[in-house]
Amino acid sequence: MPAVVYRVSFIAALAGLLFGFDTGIISGALLFIQKTYALTIGTEEMIVGSVLLGAMVGALCCGRLTDFYGRRRMILFVALLFIMGTAIAVLAQSPLQIIGGRLLIGLAIGIGSYSAPLYIAEMVPQEIRGALVSLNQLAITIGIMCSYFINYAFTTTAGSWRWMFAIGFIPAVLLGLGMLFLPESPRWLVMKGQSQKARNILTQLRSPTHVSRELADIEQSLSIKQAGFKAVFARWIRPVLLFGITLGFLQQVVGINTIIYYAPTIFNAAGFHNASSAILATVGIGIVNVLATIFAIYIIDKVGRRPLLLWGIAGMGISLACLSFSFHDHSAMMRWSAFAAIFIYIIAFAVSLGAVMWLMLSEIFPLEVRGTAMSLAVFSNWFWNFAVSSTFLTLVHALGNARTFLMYVVMCGIAFVICYYFAPETKGVSLEHIENNIRKGLPLRLIGVVPAASLQETATDQN
Ligand code: BGC
Repeated sequence: MPAVVYRVSFIAALAGLLFGFDTGIISGALLFIQKTYALTIGTEEMIVGSVLLGAMVGALCCGRLTDFYGRRRMILFVALLFIMGTAIAVLAQSPLQIIGGRLLIGLAIGIGSYSAPLYIAEMVPQEIRGALVSLNQLAITIGIMCSYFINYAFTTTAGSWRWMFAIGFIPAVLLGLGMLFLPESPRWLVMKGQSQKARNILTQLRSPTHVSRELADIEQSLSIKQAGFKAVFARWIRPVLLFGITLGFLQQVVGINTIIYYAPTIFNAAGFHNASSAILATVGIGIVNVLATIFAIYIIDKVGRRPLLLWGIAGMGISLACLSFSFHDHSAMMRWSAFAAIFIYIIAFAVSLGAVMWLMLSEIFPLEVRGTAMSLAVFSNWFWNFAVSSTFLTLVHALGNARTFLMYVVMCGIAFVICYYFAPETKGVSLEHIENNIRKGLPLRLIGVVPAASLQETATDQN
């Protein structure tokens, strides 16, 4: 494999890392920002929520922008937004300026969470394309883990939130500099009628025998007309669109980001009163999240999406119920059961809704509406992320920890029922089959079913 393929994946994955880092760093930084400015709960929630608000806007416009300006230029723009947003947050003289900087960072995350994986997918050979979708989730969890390490390092050395944000400059600058030296995606160049340029770039990315065939494939796939915005609401697409948007909703309303963003606060409420041990426990969450995601990537194509989703959601519901119960008193036993419950919850999320949602979104939408449908589902994800994490503290204040987490248990129950009845199994089936089944009007649950005739064909081909 030419080295440039690895460079492309590594550099563009920095966008996923920044996604994780910039969403994770806030849980530790918030403790210090509170010392600089006496924050009300509302302002605190805005500081956390501003990134998500920006990401929502980014998710809505990312499809059109990346098609118009090109993948490479958009990722360069993403790096620039990260740098500008970070600079504003680092130098902020008021909570409002922190919110402004974080809004820009959010915009970068929203655009980057779409354009970076797309760029990677278009640059690398198709044999390793599938794995890269899940690698994006891995990059996010690695970013979250790094932010937790930094949160911990700064608590023990009494650092400041400005430095914590400032570390985000490193991956952002690396992303920008790296992208300067990478070529544009050949698929986009062909889309813009620059086939000769596309051929030159493909020559650097593929072995010479593959170049012409791949160019022809690109040209053929581009002949499928990209339908306009309205087509996404066509009757035959509606069930998958609704399911994708619902999956984006479910991934957030089970409460994952109350733990990811507010873990130290939750450990504190569960009886771990020492701030630095609460943040150390959070580092543990970051590490376990990465390891469980690696495990998920390893088994997702063997076990399948449905079993992972159903077992994972059940595990999340049970562990959250235990967590809710353990808030009733602060005895050592309850404290440690809360601790165990949070870790089990994270593992259950990582192997189910964490890895499976992003993968399924990339699998279930027909090609002609893929960009728009993805945008809407990703927007739903960011919208509910914002709704859940910006109301969490208020809910805890009004209802108490036990009852707030009980609400997320109910949401896990709803998620389980929806996935049980509607989630398809898409393991080992081609995207064309899925699209055909949707066209035939098969129920959602069955869109991943391979017709017996094609199974026979495949078997004959292999013999
Ligand atoms: C979710 C994020 C979450 C992360 C945790 C992602 O799949 O979209 O909202 O913070 O997983 O690992």
